[in-house]
Amino acid sequence: MLAIQDLHKTFGNVVALDGCTFGVERGRMLGFLGPNGAGKTTAMRSIFGLIHHEKGSVTWDDNEITINERRRFGYMPEERGLYPKMKAHDQLTYLGRLRGMSASDASKSADNWLERFDLADRRTDPVEALSHGNQQRVQLAAALIHDPELLVLDEPFSGLDPIAAETMGDILREQAAKGTAVVFSSHQLDVVEDLCEDVAIINRGSIVVEGTVKQLKDAAPIRHIELDIDGDPEPLLASLDGIRHTTVNGSMHTVIIDADTDMRGFLARAQNAGRLRHFTYTTPSLSDLFREAVQ
Ligand SMILES: Nc1ncnc2c1ncn2[C@@H]1O[C@H](COP(=O)(O)OP(=O)(O)OP(=O)(O)O)[C@@H](O)[C@H]1O
Ligand SMILES: [Mg+2]
Repeated sequence: MLAIQDLHKTFGNVVALDGCTFGVERGRMLGFLGPNGAGKTTAMRSIFGLIHHEKGSVTWDDNEITINERRRFGYMPEERGLYPKMKAHDQLTYLGRLRGMSASDASKSADNWLERFDLADRRTDPVEALSHGNQQRVQLAAALIHDPELLVLDEPFSGLDPIAAETMGDILREQAAKGTAVVFSSHQLDVVEDLCEDVAIINRGSIVVEGTVKQLKDAAPIRHIELDIDGDPEPLLASLDGIRHTTVNGSMHTVIIDADTDMRGFLARAQNAGRLRHFTYTTPSLSDLFREAVQ
C-alpha cells in the first residue's frame, strides 16, 4: 500500500503540508478532497519525489519509494505534461518505453488505450491539435500505459464533458477492481460520492476527515433536509434549533441541521404551513460533510 505519514512541507513561510497522513491500499480508490491551496497537489507530488518534504515519510509496501517503484506508478500531474508537437501514439509509446516497456508492448498498449478513449483516428495527430478533453484522455492513457500498481491523478475530471467523465470514472473503477491502488483529487464532490468508497479531506495541510463515505455519513452529527412548501417557510425554519447552513433554490430550501434536533413536531407544522410539495430528511451528502470539515 501507499502510506504517507506525518508529511511536513513549507514554501518560504507558507505551510503547504502540516503533518499530512493517509494511505491507499491496492484495490481501493481514494477520493482526495480539499479546498484550493489545502495541499493536495503538494502531497501527490511528494509521492514522485518532486518536492522534498522536511519531515515525514512516503512509502510503498513499507519501502521508501525509489526510481524503481516510481516506474510502476502512473501519474497525471496538475500541470499536464505532454509534448505538444509529438503525435499522440508516438508520445504514449515513448512514455511506455521510459517506464521499461519493449517498443512493441508500448505501441500495442498505446493503441489499446487510444481505442478505448475513442481516439484511434487521432493517433497520428500532434497532441496540441486535440481538444482540452481529448488531451486529458491522452494524459490519462499516459498514466495507464504500463499497467501501474499505483495510479495518482491530480484533478482528472476537470474540464471533461459528462460522457468523457463517465469513461474516466469507468476506467478508474476497473483499475481499482483489478487491484490497482487509485488516488485522485477532485472538487467535483458528486463524482467522488458516486465513485469512491474511501475519501480523505485535507485542510491547511493536514487530513481533517478520513474514512468510507458510508461510515462518515452514518457517524456525522448533522442531517440534510430538503423542504418545498407552497406557503412561507421562514417562520417554520425559524422554529428549528440547530440549523448550521441553509441554501435556497427557487422554492426549495436545503437545510443542514444538528442530528439531534427533534423533527417530530416539525413535519406536522410544515403540513399546516402550506401544501407540502417535497420533504426529505437524510444523512448528509459528501458536500455537506466537506463544508463542515473545512469551514
Ligand atoms: N512551488 C511552490 N512555491 C510556493 N508555494 C507553493 C508551491 N507549491 C504549492 N505552494 C503553496 O502550498 C499550498 C498548497 O498548495 P497545493 O498546490 O498543494 O494546493 P491544492 O490543494 O492542490 O490546491 P488546488 O485545489 O487549488 O489545486 C498553497 O498555499 C500554495 O500556494
Ligand atoms: Mg492542486
